Amino acid sequence: MKRYSTLISLVLLAAVLLSACAPAATPTQAPPPPPAETAAPAAATEAPAAPAATEAPAAAAGGGKLEVFSWWTSGGEADALNALFNQFKTYNPSAEIVNATVAGGGGSNARAVLQTRLAGGDPPDTWQVHPGFELMGQYVASGFVDPITDLYKSEGWDKVVPAGLIAQMSKDGQIYGVLAGVHRGNGLWYNKKVLDNLGITVGPTMSIDEFFQVAEKVKAGGVTPLCVGDTGVWASAQLFENTLLGTIGPEKYQGLWNGTTPFDAPEVKQAMETYGKMLDYQNSDHSALSWDQAIKKLMEGSCVFSSMGDWAYGEFVKAGLKDNTDFGWVSHPGTAGSFMIVADGFVMAKGAPDKDNNTLWLKAVGSKEGQEAFNPLKGSIPARTDVDRAKFGVYHNWSMDSFAKDALVPSVVHGSAAPADFQQALNDAVTTFIVDKNVDAFAAALVKAAKDAGFGK
Ligand code: GAL
Repeated sequence: MKRYSTLISLVLLAAVLLSACAPAATPTQAPPPPPAETAAPAAATEAPAAPAATEAPAAAAGGGKLEVFSWWTSGGEADALNALFNQFKTYNPSAEIVNATVAGGGGSNARAVLQTRLAGGDPPDTWQVHPGFELMGQYVASGFVDPITDLYKSEGWDKVVPAGLIAQMSKDGQIYGVLAGVHRGNGLWYNKKVLDNLGITVGPTMSIDEFFQVAEKVKAGGVTPLCVGDTGVWASAQLFENTLLGTIGPEKYQGLWNGTTPFDAPEVKQAMETYGKMLDYQNSDHSALSWDQAIKKLMEGSCVFSSMGDWAYGEFVKAGLKDNTDFGWVSHPGTAGSFMIVADGFVMAKGAPDKDNNTLWLKAVGSKEGQEAFNPLKGSIPARTDVDRAKFGVYHNWSMDSFAKDALVPSVVHGSAAPADFQQALNDAVTTFIVDKNVDAFAAALVKAAKDAGFGK
């Protein structure tokens, strides 16, 4: 347990490290085409066109097969994944890519399917992971992945990826994953045109009180203030997680994971009250929508705000919308100055069916070209600090600045801050709270879950 809190502290170090490396912001604009997730394209076979190669790692003989497992099925997610496939194809144009996806944002369905496959000795070559507890607790501790430490040296990733991020994927000197990008989980996205029509201006930051004032105005204007799509309860858990951070601040939020902030502390209960109040402003059909369908509603203007990680940005890009014209963003109310880390990586399966191709895949994921192609479409910032900022738009440059200077905190909803059992208990407690709005019971459930997980007092 101690080790993980140490790792989390190390993430804080990354802020220092990055502010040292981050080049000056030169915003431009990210481009796009049309929308939506929802359907589950199970194990489709992909064969994207190969762009010109800029670097060619010592490749396998060619051909073979690569199975990549993820939950990237929304419009923006699928396009971004395809960009990584294209990079891989520059290394091995004749390989067959098996795009094994299981729909359900946040991996809500995918992780269970993956566990069944792993337990049955049928691993894909590689799969999507979050660093921290998810990678280390669910895959490394069970012996499902091989270390890729040598790639950090041969590819020079050890010099360009922040040490704090690498630490979240390391054990006993070995590194077990490579990151494609780092999402900022604490975004509040809005339909700018609807707000303009209502005569509402949103400042560069927003407090929780300001949010409720604006939400009242939006409601008075006849529009639903908050867009939520929680067919996967994680989306509601994330609204709570962001509200928790915005209420108690980054230091006390960090304290939740080492037992110094109890889950029944007055300020945590205050966050629960505030979250309960927010629910009064959400769309009535939230439980019938996926996260990206809620973003679609926002784009259409039938609701205004969505508290969501910046994979939402990928949906705006996919729909061809323009930053600060069609849509805008601020940090989730109260969270300016913090960056909720939701990083995405890939691993080398122990017993990977095609180790050579997976090595090329991991090289593609970690490459500068791969990250410069993937992240503008995905909404995340590159994990590498040596990318060309001019290749990124206004939002990405804003997020890179935030990563470089703000307090970096791990997401529990996306698997980094706490073990899977706690994550599940949080989802269950949120599901109950949405119905009964009982703050004491919510707090008690989390106190118990933290104790069971070994980090509560
Ligand atoms: C997160 C993941 C993101 C995005 C999101 C919604 O867990 O890190 O890349 O895919 O889920 O599906």
